[in-house]
Amino acid sequence: MLDVAAGSGNTALRAAETGASVVASDLTPENFAAGRLAAERAGLQIDWVEADAEDLPFADAEFDVITSSVGAMWAPDHQRVADELVRVCRPGGTIGMINFAADGLLADLLKVFADYAPPPPPWASSPLLWGDPDNLSQLFGDRVSTLEISPSIYTERVPGGPLGYCEYYKQFFGPVAATYAALPAEQAAALDRDFLSFAAKNNTGPENGPAELRYQYVRVIARTVAR
Ligand SMILES: C[S@@+](CC[C@H](N)C(=O)[O-])C[C@H]1O[C@@H](n2cnc3c(N)ncnc32)[C@H](O)[C@@H]1O
Repeated sequence: MLDVAAGSGNTALRAAETGASVVASDLTPENFAAGRLAAERAGLQIDWVEADAEDLPFADAEFDVITSSVGAMWAPDHQRVADELVRVCRPGGTIGMINFAADGLLADLLKVFADYAPPPPPWASSPLLWGDPDNLSQLFGDRVSTLEISPSIYTERVPGGPLGYCEYYKQFFGPVAATYAALPAEQAAALDRDFLSFAAKNNTGPENGPAELRYQYVRVIARTVAR
């Protein structure tokens, strides 16, 4: 199987645990160090390959299963990504994705940061479109014989309540850290206020406990047409 935009291998590692032969690819190879360590500790073999989801360095029909968990959705050219996922999957194979829902909490989070970051280039599509069933049907078209889309929710828990949640993102989440790094102090302070207000408004955790924010996503399972 191939895990696209694998990051540090959360999905790839789970697949390798089942005995699958796994390739993990990502645009950001710095993420592989943590994945390699986790694989080594668990005695698992994974091949790590630096690759853009829009231009995968693999042969046609090379894999039985392709996965991407909140990963390929971030590449700007959605059609190129869908074409690549289909191309490297064997006929009759499976493509599984986890994508944030089009109208869920991620949309609100992106809105907070959109006011403080440069606009995306005009040819980039919104990542939220990967959570829209109609758009998914169009992207895969008649190259898939079935397309199952199931909505679900996961909860992010971070110690320290809403403030701890914001600080965690600022320290560990690349796009958030990069946005802050490019801002003058006054604007960074304004973003702090907006981000904290988002986290406080959407926190469903206990008072004085960890922040709990619930993100809606869709689980997508497509079967490529068998020849
Ligand atoms: C939220 S992380 C998810 C990582 C992993 N799938 C997981 O579930 O933990 C998003 C990942 O997408 C990767 N990514 C973003 N754009 C990409 C692209 N065009 N091609 C490949 N990977 C990309 C990032 O480098 C990052 O590792």
